[in-house]
Amino acid sequence: MDSFAANRPMIVANAEGHHLIDTDGRRYLDAVSSLWVTTLGHRVPELDDAIVQQLAKGAHSTMLGNGNQVVIELSEALAKVVPVDRPHFLYASDGASAVEQALKMAFQYWANVGEPAHSKFLAFRGAYHGDTIGALSVGDDGFGADIFNALRFDVLRAPAFDDPECFDRAIALVEQHAHQLAAVIIEPSVQAAAGMQLCDLDGLRRFGAACKANGVLLICDEIATGFGRTGELFASTTCGLEPDLLCLGKGLTGGYLPMSVTAASDRIFQAFIGPDLGTTTFYHGHSYGGNALAAAVALRHLELIEAWDVLANVRERSLEFEQLLHDRIDANPAVKEIRLRGLMGGIELAPPIPGLRWGRKVAAAATDRGVFLRPIGDTVILMPPLTLTSEEVHEIVHALSAAIDEVASD
Ligand SMILES: Cc1ncc(COP(=O)(O)O)c(C=O)c1O
Repeated sequence: MDSFAANRPMIVANAEGHHLIDTDGRRYLDAVSSLWVTTLGHRVPELDDAIVQQLAKGAHSTMLGNGNQVVIELSEALAKVVPVDRPHFLYASDGASAVEQALKMAFQYWANVGEPAHSKFLAFRGAYHGDTIGALSVGDDGFGADIFNALRFDVLRAPAFDDPECFDRAIALVEQHAHQLAAVIIEPSVQAAAGMQLCDLDGLRRFGAACKANGVLLICDEIATGFGRTGELFASTTCGLEPDLLCLGKGLTGGYLPMSVTAASDRIFQAFIGPDLGTTTFYHGHSYGGNALAAAVALRHLELIEAWDVLANVRERSLEFEQLLHDRIDANPAVKEIRLRGLMGGIELAPPIPGLRWGRKVAAAATDRGVFLRPIGDTVILMPPLTLTSEEVHEIVHALSAAIDEVASD
């Protein structure tokens, strides 16, 4: 909070399409999709309407041992598209909660099938899975996680995606520790909070196959990559991964309402079948899990992604970004590396000495130019809405390029 005012925070009064409007009436292109959640834009009439219509039917009813029509409809729609075998869904509100559910399900799965020795998790360096204690445990150190070391449980660690040996080492760990692993957890394709680190897709494919061959459960955390960000509806599909547990959040509702979900394969689900309140029962649930308003907007959102051919737009805009970033920014000595997959981008800056806070300064300078950006350390994140236009691609790169020049020449 010490530097809150110095970071020149934007106080949003309204949002419209791809723009945020602050209390002084200034407009900003929301090039981080309001922390990676907005997909089709703000105040999309079809999405607004889905919520209004559901409001007339009831905003929420408990899913604890009961159901709600629109949540069932959403589950049926998701079942057709998620890369999970005969999926079953448990809803929560935030990404971290979806991860906690997945970790607990994987752990209890082995207890339920009578093999409790499978109690360890394998995770990757550079990973981020959320801020609750279980999610922090499988996430990497740094960014304040270490403070909670006494509370974080021990995990096996494969190298981060920027290590070319990453998947060879991860496969060796899977083979060596299969007998004690509850599951492995991975952000498929892109480690987002690590500054958009891209993985070798062939390595990931081999890693998925190794998990399968060794009977190790695979948890894919697609909270950031899901719903089209990489140019596929789900990044797991790109590498033929078929997770036992899939975590979704963020873009699930198009960025409208907090909803997340853990999809479990039928293999997992069947292990929990047993007497009421028995030893195989999954004693877990969140008050707002399966919120009806969120489900209504999520369902409409899924329909619109297909109807508007949003994935085609992601791929086209991604190619434009690639070209433009290459032409305008790549050769700038203030830039160390450009990483882009679909509409998930990271521009890693190259400050001459550490501690200059270039990331923050470049993001602020771009925001001054009407393009709202946020950094992670010295990597400026590009995560625009999926319905971005060609003109907006130019606008973002133009503002970013000018912002980098301004900060580097200071
Ligand atoms: C891959 C991944 N997993 C989990 C989370 C946590 O989601 P939430 O902030 O909704 O708890 C994030 C958030 O950035 C994420 O990128």
